[in-house]
Amino acid sequence: MTGSATPRSPLLELDDLKMHFPIRKGAFRQVVGHVKAVDGVSLRVEDGETLGIVGESGCGKSTLARTVLRIYRPTGGEIRYRDRRGGTVDLAALSGPALKDIHRDLRMVFQDPQSSLNPRLPVIDIIGEVLSVNGIVKGRELEHRVADLMRSVGLRPEYMRRYPHAFSGGERQRI
Ligand SMILES: Nc1ncnc2c1ncn2[C@@H]1O[C@H](COP(=O)(O)OP(=O)(O)O)[C@@H](O)[C@H]1O
Ligand SMILES: [Mg+2]
Repeated sequence: MTGSATPRSPLLELDDLKMHFPIRKGAFRQVVGHVKAVDGVSLRVEDGETLGIVGESGCGKSTLARTVLRIYRPTGGEIRYRDRRGGTVDLAALSGPALKDIHRDLRMVFQDPQSSLNPRLPVIDIIGEVLSVNGIVKGRELEHRVADLMRSVGLRPEYMRRYPHAFSGGERQRI
């Protein structure tokens, strides 16, 4: 073989990302300054990589994550993400339905999963809801799919009819 393969673009690449929150004061809510919660972050994540962000409380870790997921609209910079079709999109510039599509792929796993799992639903319904709402699978196939997903993160599919309280904290995060 001759030639070299075109290098694949990173899965996720942040370029000079900024998230500044306005500080407002007085009766007219005048902007008197900004909290520069995220101020020029650049990084890349390749396929299969896990990246840890470490820092003191209040240094901007959560804001960085929320900005990448576009819970906030960034003040500046780019969030280049390689999507399912292999094309690179700038999440910082997306809006409307295009943003909703992205949330099929990019999600938060909260530190306290207790608050994001309905305690009255068995695990099969919790995981199944995500699959059916997104139109991924329906009906009888759903149970197989839930079992596969549970297995893939080291949970026992036999427990799919149990409720969230019957799982440990780490297991609930995986759910
Ligand atoms: N929605 C917001 N509006 C204004 N300031 C915010 C907002 N969210 C976070 N901040 C401020 O941004 C800074 C970073 O906060 P945060 O991202 O929660 O830090 P960390 O997760 O590293 O503890 C803090 O000074 C915080 O008060
Ligand atoms: Mg935080």
